[in-house]
Amino acid sequence: MTRIALRGDLLDLTDDPGFGGATSPCVRFDADSWLLVDDGRIAGRQREVPDASWQHIDHRGRLITPGLIDMHVHSAQLDVIASYGTELLDWLNTYTFAAERRQADPQVAAEQASRFVDALLAHGTTAAVVFPTVHKASVDALFEAAGARGMRVVAGKVMMDRHAPEFLRDDVVHAERDCLDLIERWHGHGRLAYAVTPRFAPTSTPAQLDLAGRLLAAYPGTYAQTHVAENRDEVKWVSELFPDARSYLDVYQRHGLLGPRTVLAHGIWLDDNDRALLAETGAQIAHSPSSNLFLGSGLMDWVRLQDAGAAVSLASDVGGGTHLSMLRTMADAYKVQALQGVRLTAWKALYSVTRGAARALGLEGEIGSLDLGTVADLTVWDWAVGPAASHRDRLARSLHERVFAWMTLGDDRNVHETRVAGALRYRRG
Ligand code: GUN
Ligand code: ZN
Repeated sequence: MTRIALRGDLLDLTDDPGFGGATSPCVRFDADSWLLVDDGRIAGRQREVPDASWQHIDHRGRLITPGLIDMHVHSAQLDVIASYGTELLDWLNTYTFAAERRQADPQVAAEQASRFVDALLAHGTTAAVVFPTVHKASVDALFEAAGARGMRVVAGKVMMDRHAPEFLRDDVVHAERDCLDLIERWHGHGRLAYAVTPRFAPTSTPAQLDLAGRLLAAYPGTYAQTHVAENRDEVKWVSELFPDARSYLDVYQRHGLLGPRTVLAHGIWLDDNDRALLAETGAQIAHSPSSNLFLGSGLMDWVRLQDAGAAVSLASDVGGGTHLSMLRTMADAYKVQALQGVRLTAWKALYSVTRGAARALGLEGEIGSLDLGTVADLTVWDWAVGPAASHRDRLARSLHERVFAWMTLGDDRNVHETRVAGALRYRRG
């Protein structure tokens, strides 16, 4: 299998449609066309039937998009998804830390990593920025599993040297040793990249945050990922722990952690100075609407971030989020904006889980679109599943109406197949 041709309705975004209307020049849609994939890369899109040198795969009547990108998700937290009754800090202590503890066992970590990456693929997600746990074994297992499937994954060892149970704590010396070893082993290995990963400001000492900043500076191409300004009690705690910092975000700036390869989950409780700092440094927000609703964290102000020039992409944040489906994440993002009087189009939502996310990671030449020459990470979708969604799909009068109904009513049941670099990695049934 080196030359394949997929037939279906091809959809991607050529640029950021912004908070515009239902018609956008950024939408590229070719109904009932062929997508050519040669040696794992997109080689053409055309209406004419390709010649017999291409293996024909007929998905007529189905939607084909770039594989979706989840900008922030915790592999170990599949175990605590849908846990009742807490806000962030209690949720961590009551459910999450105990679940993460299990990943110390390499056997458990290997099983979890396979389960997790296969679940991403079954949800139509081909690339992700991932938190494993503080345990080196969990990072090795995740990279191993993602690498075996050829996936584009950014991840790193969680760093936590205070305010966490003893069984999850590292220290500066051991964290440095583990990070160096993991960077050496995995960063730039195939499609894998390392992210320096202090969990969040409360669980790292200033010395450990310094280490994180040094690692980020010392290894070009590495990313940084952490959480910022998710919950009001958390923000208050950070202001007590770091009295000299101007804000929660400023803690990361002081430790050299903000740059164009920095992914910050949440970013709800920010002010104008923070938004300007994001724009200035190029650090981006991974907006996690399902998690923010589930944990009662708050409503992220996307328009103000966008107006300030900060990048925003979308994330499931499982297990704070309640599903790995980026369609359901897009639908929840719509609702979070609706509560603030803002209308999120299907175009902006889809852009944010494809080209927008790729651009924010500096990977636009590789993922996030159906551009010629990019890697053929693809998801094939049923436009609608079940009687109600099928009925709604048939009644759609415009492309936006149809795509909006797909994203609002759809989830992993809509995924027909998922391909990574052209290779079939998931097919329903
Ligand atoms: N802040 C620090 N750790 C976490 C986590 O695991 N999930 C979420 N949602 N927020 C966090
Ligand atoms: Zn998170």
